Formats: sequence, structure tokens, C-alpha cells
Amino acid sequence: MTKSQPAQLQPEKINKKNILFILGRETILSLAEIKSYFILNNIKFEIEHNHENKLILSVDHDINLSDLIKLLGGTVKICDGINDTKTQKDSLAKFLNTYIPTGKIEFSINGFNALGIETKKVLKELGRSARYVEAKNTATVIFNNLIKKGADIEICHNQIFVTKAIQSIDDFSRRDFGRPGRDDESGMLPPKLAMMMLNLAIQRNNNLILDPFCGSGTIITEGILMGYKNLIGSDVSEKAVSDTIQNIKWIENIFNVDTAGLKLDIFKSDIFDINKKISDNTIDAVVAEPYLGKPLRGSETKQMIESQATELKMLYLNAFSKFKKLLKPGAVAIFIIPRFRFKEDWIRIDCEKDILKLGFINDSVLPEQKHLLYWRPGQHVGREIWRFKKI
Ligand SMILES: C[S@@+](CC[C@H](N)C(=O)[O-])C[C@H]1O[C@@H](n2cnc3c(N)ncnc32)[C@H](O)[C@@H]1O
Repeated sequence: MTKSQPAQLQPEKINKKNILFILGRETILSLAEIKSYFILNNIKFEIEHNHENKLILSVDHDINLSDLIKLLGGTVKICDGINDTKTQKDSLAKFLNTYIPTGKIEFSINGFNALGIETKKVLKELGRSARYVEAKNTATVIFNNLIKKGADIEICHNQIFVTKAIQSIDDFSRRDFGRPGRDDESGMLPPKLAMMMLNLAIQRNNNLILDPFCGSGTIITEGILMGYKNLIGSDVSEKAVSDTIQNIKWIENIFNVDTAGLKLDIFKSDIFDINKKISDNTIDAVVAEPYLGKPLRGSETKQMIESQATELKMLYLNAFSKFKKLLKPGAVAIFIIPRFRFKEDWIRIDCEKDILKLGFINDSVLPEQKHLLYWRPGQHVGREIWRFKKI
């Protein structure tokens, strides 16, 4: 990504077509993110297929997939459906012959090596020079420049798809590991998760977004890159505020951000005093990963974890009583509530009922999932991502 992107793409209406999304590790969260994007942009869609990390949506809008991939944290690849094509070597060769009309045909077929080799033979018979690349992962596809120069084929649900856009591995690792302001003790949100949370908020570019536990500023910096223009970040720690400011400058330089119209306000504040700094009924969305407690090592007692959970619950409920004032009616809070691994089970913080009592409803993008979990096996803390709406 070289420039900040608009959070909305304004695609045109077309006849229905299928798009394949290859999702990241947290597939349900990725699905919720995509759904949020379509809701924001008023695009109707139907789920044609949803299995493991592959999601096929039928949509009625012409979406620029290269722009879309830059706005999604949880999608690894986006592929266009090819109409009326059967998934056999002859039909694949016919498709490739027209898709790449001149020069050498370089292509890959993810997960179908034998078919790839057969297809190459048919292409040779058609008089075309062809090279089949065994693409083991997206890095191979990027390395061989298959999207621009050749064709990366996905076969899913008996349909052929051609990859149009791949998430930039380099950009993410630069943002994840290159940020100059760091706090490895409090922890930093992975940029992909920050993007997914921002998308779950379903906000237009100019809406006012607040992260009152901004830490090193990941939600703010990812928000800037996604094209949001009005962002407030605050934190009780002086170091967090200076890290955030440092990271914003870094991201603006490295990613050549268009700062026209960008309004940022970064300041020090305890969540308990935030109402002194921000007027009531002004915020469109809170997007936040709050303090998650002391980092766990796995050797803590149940009692210790439970007492930490009780303390955190008080902090979060206090935060929501402030959000209730700051948020506009109908505005949302995308908020992480941690859960703690203890032996083979979880110790959870039960905040939901009390948050509802404060004047919120649970407004999950996927109604069958009250919250979405972000957790990697082996981690002592899981992040529950909740969406509450002020009533
Ligand atoms: C888990 S970190 C947030 C990390 C952030 N999402 C990032 O990616 O860098 C939690 C932050 O909450 C801040 N914090 C803790 N208690 C607070 C309070 N009472 N008011 C405001 N901020 C608080 C901490 O200083 C810390 O920076």
C-alpha cells in the first residue's frame, strides 16, 4: 500500500457474479468483516459456499478487488469467478489461452498439481508456450508475479476462479514489526485485527472514531491507512501517547499517506476522566483493545486469574459508562474483552449483562455469534471481539 485508501469504494451495479475470498486464520471474524464492508457499501450478496477458509459470495456490484484487499485485514486472496467454465484440463487451457492471449502462459492451480501439469500439456498442443508454477502459498504467487504477468487459478465448489488481489505480506510485516513506538509489555494489536475491528464498526470515512486505550496506536494508524479522516486516541500512559504520535508520523512517511482533511487528536487521559476531554454525544464509534491485565505465563493460579478478571470487569464497565455519554445514539463500540486460558478451559469475564443494563444492545454483525474470538492455540489470552450499540 502506498497511499491511504478510501474506506468506501463506491462500486457500480452489475449482473450477479461470484467472488471467492480466501480467508485468514480466523475465518468467522473474516466473514464478519466482509459482511460489514458490504453493509457499509449497500452491496447485496448471497453466500454460495462457505467451507474452511474458502468463501464464495454472489454479488451484484463491480468491485475493484485490488482496492478491496487493501481494506480487509482478514482476507488473504480475492478471486474472480469465470463464467461457464468447467474445471477440466481442456476448459482450463481454453480459458488460459484467451486470458493470456500472447507470450508465454505462466500459471498455477492451487492444490491441483496434476491438473496443472495436464493443462500445460494441452496448452502445448494448442501451440502455446506454458510454464506451470507449483504455488505452495501466496508468497510463491507474489514472487512469480502471477497476478499481473500470468494467472493464479483457484478451483472451489466446481468453479474456476482467477486471483485478482493478494494481501501484501511485506506491508503487514513492516507495520507489525517496523513500528518505532513499541510496548511489548502491554502488547500491541496485530494490524490485521485492528483493520477487522475498524471494519466491524461499519463507519464512513468522516465519522469520528475513538480509541481511548490507544497504546502504541495500532487502531489509529490502521484507521489512517484505511482512509478514516477523524480519529481520537487517548491513553493513561504518557509513553503510549508519545508512541502513538511517533507511529503516526512513521506510517505517514513510510506509506506516503495523503493527510489532506485528516483530523487527529491524540492526548493523555485516564478513561475515568475522558468526559472532561470529549463532549457528550459526539463519537460515532469506539474501537478499542483495553488493558488486558498482566501478561500471563501459564503458571498462574485460578484464584489469581479470577481476581484479575474481576478487576478488569470493573475497568470495562466504567469505560462503558463513559462510552454511553460520549457516543451518539445508535453509535457502536467494538471492544475486546479478554478470556484467560486455565488448563484446558477458559476463565471468562462476564460483562455482557451489565453493559446491556448501561443502555446498550449486543449488535453483532453475525447474529448467531454474540462475539467473535481471536485466539491462537498456545496463547494464554484469547480476545473476544464484541459489538455493542448505544440505545
Ligand atoms: C493492550 S494495551 C492497548 C494496545 C493497543 N491496542 C495497541 O495496539 O498498541 C492497553 C492500553 O490501555 C492503557 N490503559 C490502562 N488503563 C487505562 C485507563 N484507566 N485509562 C486509559 N488507558 C488505560 C494502557 O496504558 C495500555 O496502553
